[in-house]
Amino acid sequence: MVISIVNQKGGVAKTTTSINLAAGLALEGYKVLLIDTDPQCNATQVFIHPDIEISLEKSLHHVIMKFAPLPSVIRSTAFTNLSFAPSHIRLSSTDLELAQALDNRSARLKRAIDEIQSRYDYIIIDNPPSLGLLTINSFVASDRLIIPVSTAYFALTGLDQLQETIAMVQQTRLNPDLKLLGVLCTFADHTIVSRDVEKQVRTFFGDLVFKTTIPKNVALEEAHSRHTHIFAHSARSGGAVAYRALIKEVLAR
Ligand SMILES: Nc1ncnc2c1ncn2[C@@H]1O[C@H](COP(=O)(O)OP(=O)(O)OP(=O)(O)O)[C@@H](O)[C@H]1O
Ligand SMILES: [Mg+2]
Repeated sequence: MVISIVNQKGGVAKTTTSINLAAGLALEGYKVLLIDTDPQCNATQVFIHPDIEISLEKSLHHVIMKFAPLPSVIRSTAFTNLSFAPSHIRLSSTDLELAQALDNRSARLKRAIDEIQSRYDYIIIDNPPSLGLLTINSFVASDRLIIPVSTAYFALTGLDQLQETIAMVQQTRLNPDLKLLGVLCTFADHTIVSRDVEKQVRTFFGDLVFKTTIPKNVALEEAHSRHTHIFAHSARSGGAVAYRALIKEVLAR
């Protein structure tokens, strides 16, 4: 099962959700691969210290642009059952390079994943805040999508464009089987804005919204800077409790 975490809006907890979903599933005993397609490399920096230069041969850029096999870039992590494929800042020009490519430019990630999919129970893809060709590659490679929506501000604008893009991927037969697994409310607190936005999201998406809401929780931020996930950093924090509940829902769906 390949799950992409997407929203072209920045800072809605795509990376936080990718890391903790992947880590939580690995803790449940599933074999998990986390793929970072974001040139910002936020997920990559959690697992590889930024002081260590990532060699160009070993990032997703090489997989997408030079057709390197995915296993040649996959690294193990300090965590059992969890491997990851790092991003590289060079991916920031990949959307442009792909736009000029003629062959198979939307399905390069899918082709790379197809070869190794049977080795993992779950492949989680963290995506950049854009709807460019890298994200389209993720849509084509994925079975399911999770859309995090921040309740910290009125973030619903842009969701119709995201839905249009998903519909385009389904209808043009790039990936007719692509489905929305769920919408996840993040950065929730007791402010009126947060409650209003969550209400709007639930009205708009109905049952597609996960019952679990991720609260604003500083431990989630701390975990990133300590190069770990929330369950290792603070297993009893509100963030850990919420992501554990999310994983239950994901497994049930
Ligand atoms: N529930 C939360 N409570 C507090 N801080 C959070 C929470 N979720 C994420 N953060 C912090 O908010 C910031 C943005 O989160 P994150 O990087 O996951 O968003 P993103 O959607 O991946 O952003 P981008 O679009 O730039 O890739 C990070 O510093 C992260 O540590
Ligand atoms: Mg991110």
